[in-house]
Amino acid sequence: MKRKIVARLQLNNGKEVVFKYPQIEDALEMMNYFNGLSKEQTFITFQGEQISLEFEQKRLKELLQKIKNKMAIQILVFCNSQVIAISDLIMRERAEKHIGSFGITVAKEFRGLGIGRKLMQTVIDEAISRIPQLKILVLGVFSDNPIAQNMYKKMGFIEYGSLPQGVMHKGHLDNHIYMYKKVRDL
Ligand SMILES: CC(C)(COP(=O)(O)OP(=O)(O)OC[C@H]1O[C@@H](n2cnc3c(N)ncnc32)[C@H](O)[C@@H]1OP(=O)(O)O)[C@@H](O)C(=O)NCCC(=O)NCCS
Repeated sequence: MKRKIVARLQLNNGKEVVFKYPQIEDALEMMNYFNGLSKEQTFITFQGEQISLEFEQKRLKELLQKIKNKMAIQILVFCNSQVIAISDLIMRERAEKHIGSFGITVAKEFRGLGIGRKLMQTVIDEAISRIPQLKILVLGVFSDNPIAQNMYKKMGFIEYGSLPQGVMHKGHLDNHIYMYKKVRDL
């Protein structure tokens, strides 16, 4: 069955990218995508470690179940058949079941083209319409990542704390900044 396209974006270079929910067949593309980001040592917790296809298939299978159970959202952005950005929101449990943890990455050669902002809005909109218990979004961002911090502030996120030397980035300890956004009244 053909997958539903959640959103589309026309880039300045004339290319069109499409936004879709994942399916199990995407595991290989996703593994390649994550391994590329990890190798780059961008502002994510993977700093060079490589994952296997088996690892990604297991992770994706669990995530697909969470999406089905309204406990997660994940959207992949495709340029032709290549995954070029991923964003997700994973709900917490029990006393924190009204909180969703947000994450986003865009492949290096596709940054600064408006994909991050559109993808973030799409994931938040999907989460609000599909997950009624969601009230607060939270995220963590490295202190030496002003681009992401700018984007989050523009999207209405507010800083609420920081763990000094909370993350190791490119071999240096960096502060981990925490931000939140209220999306529904508590
Ligand atoms: C952070 C990231 C997701 C942003 O996605 P993107 O597609 O590059 O961002 P966009 O082009 O949609 O721009 C969104 C906003 O980000 C900020 N931004 C983007 N490029 C910027 C730059 N070169 N300098 C400063 N701010 C910038 C701006 O606030 C921009 O809003 P504006 O266009 O209204 O000015 C992407 O750069 C990325 O994946 N970086 C590496 C991994 C990462 O940092 N992930 C986040 C971990 S917390």
